[in-house]
Amino acid sequence: AQNERDSQYIVSDWAKNRYKKLLQESEEGESIGWAYLKERGLNQATIETFELGYSLDKWDDVLNEAQKAGFDAKYLEKTGLVIKREEDGRRYDRFRGRVMFPIHNISGRVVGFGARTLRRDEKAGAKYLNSPESEIYHKSDVLYGLYQAKQAIRQEELCYLVEGYLDVISLHQGGIKNVVASSGTSLTEGQIRLIARYTDNVTVLYDGDAAGIRAALRGLDIILENGLNVRVVLFPDGDDPDSYIRKVGDKRFQEFVEANSQDFISFKTKLAAREAANDPVKKAEAIRDVLQSIAKVPDPLKRQVFLQQTAGTFHIDEQVLISEYNKLVKQGV
Ligand code: CTP
Ligand code: MN
Ligand code: MN
Ligand code: MN
Ligand code: MN
Repeated sequence: AQNERDSQYIVSDWAKNRYKKLLQESEEGESIGWAYLKERGLNQATIETFELGYSLDKWDDVLNEAQKAGFDAKYLEKTGLVIKREEDGRRYDRFRGRVMFPIHNISGRVVGFGARTLRRDEKAGAKYLNSPESEIYHKSDVLYGLYQAKQAIRQEELCYLVEGYLDVISLHQGGIKNVVASSGTSLTEGQIRLIARYTDNVTVLYDGDAAGIRAALRGLDIILENGLNVRVVLFPDGDDPDSYIRKVGDKRFQEFVEANSQDFISFKTKLAAREAANDPVKKAEAIRDVLQSIAKVPDPLKRQVFLQQTAGTFHIDEQVLISEYNKLVKQGV
């Protein structure tokens, strides 16, 4: 099985180099892939740091070239670079005409790819295609950008968590290097444990749309459960970290994040307040929701501090709040 895995690592590394070469040296890669990345504001140094590439708009480039290089088609299929059609057994490239984002594991080996279409018409298909799970790629145990970020995370004693590949890359180029993305899955416990190797502090920078808020709320509880400290920054609706840093520049982005980062209790409180300003029923629901998050915090001292803070924020008597909390915990929620 070790050999199987090694073969998958080697073919993934080969494919990464193929895509890099196509971006830098092929006419299609330069005129379409490069042009796109330039339009998104990325420079050559950044493209190299993240080893970005381009897949030709062809059905069999990787299939043919890999076989010419001596790779068994079996490994192309196992890593999902090539798909075998059920009906007639014909093989074709999964990634075609896309910008390629290699996904590195913590030691820098390529385990999979994200791939963005450059087309804007309806035949473009999904905006992002991702490699499937394989023996070397367990999506729930990988964070995009961690390999490039881990030193900075340790230095800054903080990890920024964003949604997308381009959020990671844009922030990194803007000098914020302690940033990773859960890309393509919702945040998992395995991903949090990866972060916990480097720091206890996570700040969530999700898109300022409804989906981003929902994802942030889900993420909060997983982070809390694992004993990490979490803060949240909400971007203006319609912006994500990438579009925002492009809009306002590196310095103002930093300032925005510092000024708008809130702890999870304030975040949940403000969301609830937005929804139901003076509705006592909604307010009670919001309080119970915060209490449920607090119940997930493993450290009893932190729980105590959060309970005090919640009482203050909602203007509730602390003893009343604590007895409500104990009731919820007894009910096992
Ligand atoms: N994603 C995915 N499959 C999709 C859409 C999104 O895997 N069909 C993942 C990608 O990792 C993507 C992230 O979710 O980077 C965030 O999605 P979205 O906000 O839609 O994409 P952006 O990264 O903002 O993409 P872009 O700026 O290139 O439009
Ligand atoms: Mn695993
Ligand atoms: Mn989004
Ligand atoms: Mn986005
Ligand atoms: Mn974006």
